[in-house]
Amino acid sequence: MGHPYGTEGRAAFEASVSFGRDIFKHRGAVSPPDRARLLGQRATTIWFTGLSGAGKSTLAYEMERRLLAQRRLSYVLDGDNLRHHLNSDLGFSAQDRRENIRRTAEVASLMNDAGLIVFSALISPSREDRSMARAIVGDARFVEVYMSADVSTCEGRDPKGLYAKARAGLISQFTGITSPYEEPEAPTLCIDTGRMNLDEAADELMQLLWSSGVLH
Ligand code: ADX
Repeated sequence: MGHPYGTEGRAAFEASVSFGRDIFKHRGAVSPPDRARLLGQRATTIWFTGLSGAGKSTLAYEMERRLLAQRRLSYVLDGDNLRHHLNSDLGFSAQDRRENIRRTAEVASLMNDAGLIVFSALISPSREDRSMARAIVGDARFVEVYMSADVSTCEGRDPKGLYAKARAGLISQFTGITSPYEEPEAPTLCIDTGRMNLDEAADELMQLLWSSGVLH
C-alpha cells in the first residue's frame, strides 16, 4: 500500500523546508497569486498609523464598504477590536504594543495570502515596530498610510473620552500624552483628517489603489 493520499502528499513535504527540528512546511498546489487572481485584485496591506482619534478606523471601514460595493473583498484589522479577542492579553507597554503589531502583521500576511486587501488600523507608534510589520507582510505588499491629525485635533475630538482620562491621570502610557508617537519618515500617503473630510480621504486612497495596481 502506498501513501493514503498518493504521491502528491509526499511531494508537498519533500519540496518544503524544515525550519525546526520536527516541523515542516506543507505547500499546497494553490498559490497566493492564484487566490488574488480569483478575486481580481492584488492582495495588499494598507497599514494605517496615527494617534487615537486620527480617523484610522473610520477610513478603514469606509474603504471596506466602498470596495465591497465594487465587489472587491477586503478586511479591516482594527486595533480596538483585536484587543477584545486575539490580543486581549496585551496592554500598552512598549513590549505589548510590539507583540500587538507582530500578531496583527502575521494575520495581515495570512489574509494577503488568502487574496484579500487588508486595512490595518493600529496606532503602531514605533517606527521600529512598523518596519517589523513591513518585514512580516513583505515590502512588495505593504503600504504605509499616515493619518497625520495632531494631538490637539485628536484631543479636541476625543470620541472615546480617553484623552480627558489620560490628562486626569486615569490612563497611563497614553499615546501622544504620556507615551511617544514616532511619525513615519516616508509614508506612501499622508492623510490629514484635520483638513480633509472622510469622502475626500477615501477618494484619495481609492485613487492610490487604482494607480498602484492593487485594483485593476
Ligand atoms: S497600539 O499602540 O498597540 O498600536 P492599538 O491601536 O492596538 O494601539 O490600540 C489603541 C486603542 O486602544 C486606542 O484607540 C484607544 O481606544 C485604546 N487605548 C486604551 N489605552 C490606551 C493607551 N494607553 N494608549 C493608546 N490607546 C489606548
